[in-house]
Amino acid sequence: MGRLLIFLALAGGVAFVIFGAAASRRGGDVADVGRVEAVRWVKPVGAAVSVGPARRNEDYVRAFLAHYTSLTPENAMKWEQIQPRRGRFDFAAADALVTFAERHGRRVRGHPLVWDQQLPEWVTAGDWDAAELEQVLRDHVREVVGRYAGRVEVWDVVNEPLEDDGGFTRNVWFRVLGERYIEIALRAAREADPDATLLINEIAAEFEGPKAKALRRLVARLRRSGVPIDGVGLQNHTTARRFPDRERLAAVMGDYEDLGLDVEITEMDVALPPGAPLERQARAYTAAGEACAAAPNCLGLTVWGVTDEFSWIGADKRPLPLGEGGVSKPAFAALRTALAR
Ligand code: G3I
Repeated sequence: MGRLLIFLALAGGVAFVIFGAAASRRGGDVADVGRVEAVRWVKPVGAAVSVGPARRNEDYVRAFLAHYTSLTPENAMKWEQIQPRRGRFDFAAADALVTFAERHGRRVRGHPLVWDQQLPEWVTAGDWDAAELEQVLRDHVREVVGRYAGRVEVWDVVNEPLEDDGGFTRNVWFRVLGERYIEIALRAAREADPDATLLINEIAAEFEGPKAKALRRLVARLRRSGVPIDGVGLQNHTTARRFPDRERLAAVMGDYEDLGLDVEITEMDVALPPGAPLERQARAYTAAGEACAAAPNCLGLTVWGVTDEFSWIGADKRPLPLGEGGVSKPAFAALRTALAR
């Protein structure tokens, strides 16, 4: 009888491991493709990773691991995902991506803590007074940054706070708290993880103009006031028709170095009009890669998606260095020439 019980116990344990692993892969974990060596970069070069394809598509995961050393969750850390109902946190998707990155020794960028998009209705529809919304914001930042303290190296604390004319985006945070929401988020993030690098992440701030000026003024003002800010993220969403060249990006990076601040290229993609040559797209990636390699304060470069077919702007725009199925394009060769060891 004793032997039968031991056998059943062992069989049960083995079954649990097998079914448990399959279940966790199905619902939770990123697909397991084993160990894959990445390109050796002089600075972190990464991609935004979407948890859906990462859970079900081994080619997608393999393409990320074989090319990139830094991971930004494309959507898994946004409010609608992380705190869909007030006080109810859902970290399953973010945990899956962070754990996957750690398992493979990859750097993690947190994105974003505060934005005006992909917010749950309880935030956007709330009839807030300033004190209450400040507490909601502070609690969210502390909960998220605290959970990943020591695991997430860089945070896009505030995403896209400015309009093209340089004014503040009139999102729910600004409408209720004014510009102070930015300081509240930055201070809460620093308290929750003193070692994390804290950035304000902005779109279309690579060319000189009202927004670029306003962003420099904003971070300089925060710095002077003793607000914890380490630098800015330049998203660099561009097109093959018009992209910042190396000199332009070097100038922007130099402006922030003069302020004692870091920069990072955080969301690069280069949309290709129909029929445009891939070589023109590659020139945009060469410009960004060379500018970042040469700038002491450039932390790294991230592209906004792993392969073209999963790009947020559509596969038809072929915006990324890796084409469908992870095929390397001239744009990837351009990044390697600029940033690989
Ligand atoms: O989660 C829902 C799903 O339940 C639903 O079935 C599906 C179809 O409607 O939509 C899913 O939500 C989508 C979400 O991505 C998650 O996949 C939204 O519709 C879609 O609008 C959202 O797009 C994201 C976009 O931000 C939102 O503005 C893109 O994937 C994401 O790449 C993009 O990323 C932003 C950065 O975070 C900040 N910088 C700009 C960049 C481009 O907008």
